[in-house]
Amino acid sequence: MSVSIRNFFLLWLLVQPSTSHASGKKTTVIVTNKLQGGRDLLVHCESADDDLGVQHLHPNASFSWSFRINFFISTLFHCSFQWESVLHKFVIYNARKDADKCVLCSWIVKEDGPCLVSPGTKDDCYSWDSLEER
Ligand SMILES: *[C@@H]1O[C@H](CO)[C@@H](O)[C@H](O)[C@H]1NC(C)=O
Repeated sequence: MSVSIRNFFLLWLLVQPSTSHASGKKTTVIVTNKLQGGRDLLVHCESADDDLGVQHLHPNASFSWSFRINFFISTLFHCSFQWESVLHKFVIYNARKDADKCVLCSWIVKEDGPCLVSPGTKDDCYSWDSLEER
């Protein structure tokens, strides 16, 4: 009995129609270097499934990636932003919190922290989750 329930669950996982959060639509995150003084920014973002590698961003340059939120709505990307030998860490996307907030999540990175920007609204700025000396 328990085996068949388990099989049923696995089958359901395979054929289940997408949930509203993960309705086949892709989420895109954009990160733009807005550090002062023409400084370059090294960005390294990872999820449990993907390592996006180290991206070297010149001033005002952007890096973006797209993904589908996983079935469990547990998709989480954390990034480190490096300049002047300090890693500034931040969870840039957490599906549990952000799935309803943005489909196109555009961040600008400043010294004090990243800001989520959307047209016609005030920038939504955060401070770094943690810092790490290199
Ligand atoms: C980056 O963009 C801002 C305007 O958004 C501009 O004032 C600045 O000169 C640009 N910096 C570089 C290095 O292009």
